[in-house]
Amino acid sequence: PIVALVLAGGTGTRLYPASRSDRPKQFLSFGEDESLLAETVSRVGFVDESYVLTRESFADGVRERVPNAAVLTEPEPKDTGPALLYAAHRIREQVGDCVLLCLPSDHRISGPFETIARTAARVAVETKGLVTVGIKPDRPATGYGYIKPGASENGFAPVETFHEKPDRETATEYVREGFYWNAGLFSWTPSGLLSAAESSPLAPMIERLDEGNYDAAFDAIDPVSIDYAVLEDADNAFVVPAALDWDDLGSWDAFERVLDSQDGNAVLGDAVTIDADGNVLASDGHVSAVGVEDLVVASFDDRTLVVPKDEAQRVREVVAELRDDG
Ligand code: GDD
Ligand code: MG
Repeated sequence: PIVALVLAGGTGTRLYPASRSDRPKQFLSFGEDESLLAETVSRVGFVDESYVLTRESFADGVRERVPNAAVLTEPEPKDTGPALLYAAHRIREQVGDCVLLCLPSDHRISGPFETIARTAARVAVETKGLVTVGIKPDRPATGYGYIKPGASENGFAPVETFHEKPDRETATEYVREGFYWNAGLFSWTPSGLLSAAESSPLAPMIERLDEGNYDAAFDAIDPVSIDYAVLEDADNAFVVPAALDWDDLGSWDAFERVLDSQDGNAVLGDAVTIDADGNVLASDGHVSAVGVEDLVVASFDDRTLVVPKDEAQRVREVVAELRDDG
């Protein structure tokens, strides 16, 4: 069987103040009817079973938004590496042999998703390896993993190198050389992942998972994403290139790419714009912008954020500061 594993334990910090600690990005709908999480679960409606993997504190919010999915909670939020290893182990116990389709819960995707997902699953079964989906980059984004493909056959290629979140200069070079972005959409069999993890920083978890000692498994390692922990050093990884319309809505500047323009501004919610251009104006109410350019103004609940659009990544600093203040 094909089992979908939807990752919904991240916080989406860079979309503050729309995202908050009790309202992560995947719970938001950004102008659509359904939350990104619910859209993700519907997108994989063709699989045999679906699990949503999340942290304890989001579990109720997940059940509210996707009442029909099985919810798996991890003992501790320690990024995607430990979470994915834990889930592979648990699902193998519950379902037996299967192929997992692991998906982020906070992306906008359109295009031939099912075909690509089925191809990825087929390759994972055939190769027993780790399968990624590759998107053709259109800019040297630094928030993604970059994949150098080997010679391709039958709709997939071996991964020659995988570099998670390179700096700008390196990313520019990679785009020029025809690397792919890692879409964050993976397929592997539980055993395929567990054996790849044996020679990774996640290795100390394995014995404890086998003993059913899940808390100890999480205690044994530091937070790390699957990309850094396993994919960068994997020797049996593959990439399925995909012509998907794909955006990970990572930070406010992304909305320029996914929203229709209102007089040259990207508007989520309501806005009046006068002599304003190139701004992202997002709110759960109303924003007016007069005579300003290339700003992000985001206003949700009683919180407002203003930042130059090309510094939208710095929202992280605000959230860090707010956390320090309790
Ligand atoms: N269950 C669980 N537990 N889920 C998590 C956790 C966790 O501790 N941390 C993050 N997630 C979920 C997020 O909610 C999201 O759906 C997904 O895992 C990916 O996490 P991100 O934190 O958004 O990763 P990223 O965007 O920095 O990088 C990854 O995705 C990029 C594409 O969007 C990497 O795989 C990159 O290589 C890739 O290019
Ligand atoms: Mg992301």
